[in-house]
Amino acid sequence: MNVALSKMYVDDAVKEAVLAVVNSGRYINGPNLKGFEEEFAAMCGTRYAVGVSSGTSAILLSLMALDIGQGDEVIVPSHTFIATATPALFLGATPVYADIDPATCNIDPAGVQRRITPKTRAIIPVHLYGHPCDMDPINEVAGKHGLHVIEDACQSHGATYKGRKTGSLADIACFSFFPSKNMTVLGDGGMITTGHDQIAGKLRMLRDHGRTQKYVHEILGLNCRLSEIHAAVGREQLRHLPHWNERRRAIAARYNALLAGTGAILPVEREWARHVYYMYVIRVQGRDSLASYLKERGIETGIHYPIPVHRQPLMRSDVRLPITEQYVDEILSLPMHPHLSDEEVDYVGAAVRHFLEERA
Ligand SMILES: Cc1ncc(COP(=O)(O)O)c(C=O)c1O
Repeated sequence: MNVALSKMYVDDAVKEAVLAVVNSGRYINGPNLKGFEEEFAAMCGTRYAVGVSSGTSAILLSLMALDIGQGDEVIVPSHTFIATATPALFLGATPVYADIDPATCNIDPAGVQRRITPKTRAIIPVHLYGHPCDMDPINEVAGKHGLHVIEDACQSHGATYKGRKTGSLADIACFSFFPSKNMTVLGDGGMITTGHDQIAGKLRMLRDHGRTQKYVHEILGLNCRLSEIHAAVGREQLRHLPHWNERRRAIAARYNALLAGTGAILPVEREWARHVYYMYVIRVQGRDSLASYLKERGIETGIHYPIPVHRQPLMRSDVRLPITEQYVDEILSLPMHPHLSDEEVDYVGAAVRHFLEERA
């Protein structure tokens, strides 16, 4: 049996939606972008959504919209994908790394507090693997110090914190539609959500050459637009998101039952959270041997992420983050996508259990 780590879903409805755009002759800034933005904002429970070209450009434009730049500091986790931190560098700002909560793997609010300096301007909590961050203490610290909060929701489409969707928990939130995500646009794409009228207006200018009219450019902008084809695919995918997330949760519950008592440390779901399992990540000693064993049995796994951001050659940071540095050698992502069959999940679960029991 071959079991993929993640898989995209393409049906006839998606193909028809793409063909309809191709035949329409309208490829940018058209009705699909507008429709997708409205539908995505409604899903998140926010007022505005602004479609952009990727999750990375979503973070870059969000920082630009908040006037973050030269000499500013932005607090981020290091246990994340690099693009949480790199956009700040483009603007002359410095990413400052905080360690993670040992249970959820999300940025530790107490660690955030310790990293605040007079130069701090923003915090970017990442809802890693689909589990929301503990936003109340983060927003409280931000409020006390006059900082902006940008949710990196690139892995948490549809997750909730105390009953509210990620994307509605801070000043701005950034989503990615990269193909492995809980929903995709079959290519690169992103979305920024916000409840602020002024920020939404500025983001719309920033993504489109800073213009207010066709050839009137009021601020320094970029081309970070989301195409009509991608927006049309996104609308189709968004319709499936609720039941796909339910299926991801059912798969996680099945893995939890299969792996209980094996010694593997399993993902947690806080009582205030609704996890959407972008990734199902376990922790084990001897992770690399387990990964090889699974590979021999046709099971694809991943490591999210094998080098913490502060340890990347690009970053040259000598900060010590004990939990992040420990977890990096223990984490293993098991196959997780809504189209996995129970049989496949059982096959993966049995293989992991067998390896761990043999070794014990
Ligand atoms: C946590 C996180 N932040 C940022 C990004 C960047 O998104 P994109 O790949 O769409 O640029 C991703 C996705 O790859 C991500 O997982």
